[in-house]
Amino acid sequence: MSAAVTVAAPAKINLRLGVGPVRPDGYHPLGTVYLALDLLDTVTAAPADDWSVTVRTAVPDRVDTAEVPTDARNLAAQAARLLAVEHGTAQAVHPVALTLDKAIPVAGGLAGGSADAAAALVACDRLWGLGSSDIDLLALAARLGSDVPFALLGGAALGEGHGQLVTPLPVAGPLWWAVLPDPTGLSTPAVYRTFDELAGAGATTPAGTAVPDGLAAALAAGDVAALAPYLVNDLEVPAVHLRPALAERLAAGHAAGAVAPLLSGSGPTCLYLCTSRAHADEVVAGLAAAGHPGGLVASGPTPGALR
Ligand code: C5P
Repeated sequence: MSAAVTVAAPAKINLRLGVGPVRPDGYHPLGTVYLALDLLDTVTAAPADDWSVTVRTAVPDRVDTAEVPTDARNLAAQAARLLAVEHGTAQAVHPVALTLDKAIPVAGGLAGGSADAAAALVACDRLWGLGSSDIDLLALAARLGSDVPFALLGGAALGEGHGQLVTPLPVAGPLWWAVLPDPTGLSTPAVYRTFDELAGAGATTPAGTAVPDGLAAALAAGDVAALAPYLVNDLEVPAVHLRPALAERLAAGHAAGAVAPLLSGSGPTCLYLCTSRAHADEVVAGLAAAGHPGGLVASGPTPGALR
């Protein structure tokens, strides 16, 4: 049997997350710009007598492994099964023990579960010697979740459809961020449901799914000052509605000297755009001094699981 295969996949943030009205299938159309951060989970797929999932972390203060299911609900396990069913042959596929080494906070709006699924797809494809094309893996990824295709690609990308249709975008990076995880996660479906309620009641005016050209231009130029006004997240209002303390956490970034605050995806992780690594270190220290400890520094773009 072949040796174990380990593959890394990045956290994602949405520089812009424009959300349209809910579709009949329950998903929301998105116009988003993804950026992959150098905050990585790794997945190791090892030949085994039976299927299993083990979840570990070297950073227990920010990753609550108890929140990650190890049964069939685990998205990495679903990815391995889907690959086996769709692209495997009886000769190639054998059970795998998946070990998830997590650095990405759980239920934080950073798509950690999607990263694990993307890494599991690539790791199992290599372990089983399937040689699937990138296109085939991207198609499987889209069936696993809205953010899984981007976790395969990494870098930066325009995201359309419900997020699963990804088109790479050029970035003159790195872009530096202070990242403030929240000890308690938020449920993505609950944030989208609250978006529907607030939008239906006219209590929020979403920016919508059209992505301004200036955003891609600012990204291509690596121009932090030009990028800042384009940082918009239509899920911020519903996330703050569900977790009012987020308003103060976001605002604390200004006092700490960040260029601009941004809620990550459906939250509750808060992001603060900075001009350099040293600046991001200062913002993390300023947040801690203001009663918001536990921040870290990350940069993007970084490659996806396909690399
Ligand atoms: O695609 P994924 O499984 O990650 O989505 C999780 C949940 O988030 C969906 O079941 C849905 O409630 C919500 N969602 C949405 N519109 C999107 C993406 C996700 O409503 N574009």
